[in-house]
Amino acid sequence: MIELLRKRRSIREFTAEVISPEAIQILIEAALRAPSSRGNNPWEFVVVKDPDLLIKLSKAKQHGSDFLKNTPLALLLIKLLPSTTMILWNRL
Ligand SMILES: Cc1cc2nc3c(=O)[nH]c(=O)nc-3n(C[C@H](O)[C@H](O)[C@H](O)COP(=O)(O)O)c2cc1C
Repeated sequence: MIELLRKRRSIREFTAEVISPEAIQILIEAALRAPSSRGNNPWEFVVVKDPDLLIKLSKAKQHGSDFLKNTPLALLLIKLLPSTTMILWNRL
């Protein structure tokens, strides 16, 4: 595990290699297995492959999303509100 952590980095440049449906399934499974407060999973994941939509998403915020226009695929995390987590934090 520590070797994985030592080697990991944020990737912002991509090849045109097609991502197989099997690899996409594994990405989705990994995302769905992410832990959350009280296990309430306050999110939905959306796979985006449409190049036009990826370009729109790359412009959806001012900084830090430009690389999306060059990706073959993005896995979006949609935060569902209000969540139990948010309510707990707001009470502090
Ligand atoms: C909560 C969070 C938000 C981030 N948001 C962005 C982002 O909007 N755009 C981006 O290019 N990188 C984003 N990053 C990646 C960080 O910039 C990156 O982790 C940091 O520069 C360290 O580089 P490394 O991940 O290669 O070790 C984000 C990371 C975290 C944890």
